[in-house]
Amino acid sequence: MKKLKEIKDAVALFRNEEAVYLNPVFRRLFQLEDQYPRLRDIFAPPPPGYGLYETRAQRPNGSQFDAEVIVLPYQEDLSQVLVRDITSRQAVEKLWIQSERLAAMGKLAGEIAHEINNPLGGILLYANLLKEDLPSESPHLDLVEKIIKLATRCRIIAKALLNFGRPEESLEEWLDLNQILTDMFSLIEDHRLFRRQEIIWELSPELPLIQGNRNQMEQLVLNLIINAGEALNNRPGKIYLRTFYDEIDGMVVLEVEDTGEGISPEILPRIFEPFFTTKTGGKGTGLGLSICHGIVKRHRGQIEVESTLKEGTIFRIKLPRAPYSHE
Ligand SMILES: Nc1ncnc2c1ncn2[C@@H]1O[C@H](COP(=O)(O)OP(=O)(O)OP(=O)(O)O)[C@@H](O)[C@H]1O
Ligand SMILES: [Mg+2]
Repeated sequence: MKKLKEIKDAVALFRNEEAVYLNPVFRRLFQLEDQYPRLRDIFAPPPPGYGLYETRAQRPNGSQFDAEVIVLPYQEDLSQVLVRDITSRQAVEKLWIQSERLAAMGKLAGEIAHEINNPLGGILLYANLLKEDLPSESPHLDLVEKIIKLATRCRIIAKALLNFGRPEESLEEWLDLNQILTDMFSLIEDHRLFRRQEIIWELSPELPLIQGNRNQMEQLVLNLIINAGEALNNRPGKIYLRTFYDEIDGMVVLEVEDTGEGISPEILPRIFEPFFTTKTGGKGTGLGLSICHGIVKRHRGQIEVESTLKEGTIFRIKLPRAPYSHE
């Protein structure tokens, strides 16, 4: 059996309310020097007896953290108290729950899109037939054109949503992210969004391949580049397109950075939700990033964002390198 002194967790012995022994980890965790605190000095509420509890722990300097506390009988009238700081565990759980929620929302959205895509096609067809039948001076022409315009917009949204419903696509291709970036950028570089922007290429020449689905990767890259262009909002700025290999994690990293408007901390937690957009006048559907999130998740990768308001934003995608791709 290990001695209490050698245990890596924070452990203390208490007699009733009073601490009689604190191991060095316990002292460090609570920033205690030679004091022997009472249970109620360091936990709010204090654990009522033997068992496993989650509670708030507090240090003499007033700082607090969420703690898991285990209270067990020790020898004679002593109880052993083991404490763990669970702040980071809670952060990970929160992220995980959020990511599951996004996936569920995406799946539902894909199913709804399937259901409405066909009737929408019908609405467009009949509205177009009606338009052809109407004489050009008809007062109803204007209304029919409005129906066509709005139904077309619904169709664009439904088409984008259908992307959620394709998890069965093959993820077997070996892909060069540098190639995908240059191909995708060449498709859109003449667009007005990029006319006044300086594009800075920082592609690693020795980037390992990744394994995945080409269409999905292309869509991911396009969405991020278009968002960067839109964030610059026709003002001159810079867009960095960067790739590198992170040897420690074994991940291939792609970054799209812009010097645009940035994202305020209040909306940052919502940007990956389907239909969340700050673009007015029908300019955005709010689906771009939620689709990116789904694609990255399917490729067993991570998506991160760093942003400073009025300065710019970095979207970072990390994807596992393809096995044996170094040969
Ligand atoms: N590079 C960026 N800089 C600043 N804000 C961004 C950036 N990328 C995304 N956002 C914010 O996140 C929101 C959601 O982005 P998302 O791509 O999902 O939808 P959208 O661009 O608004 O619409 P869509 O992609 O469907 O055209 C945007 O409306 C914008 O507020
Ligand atoms: Mg977008």
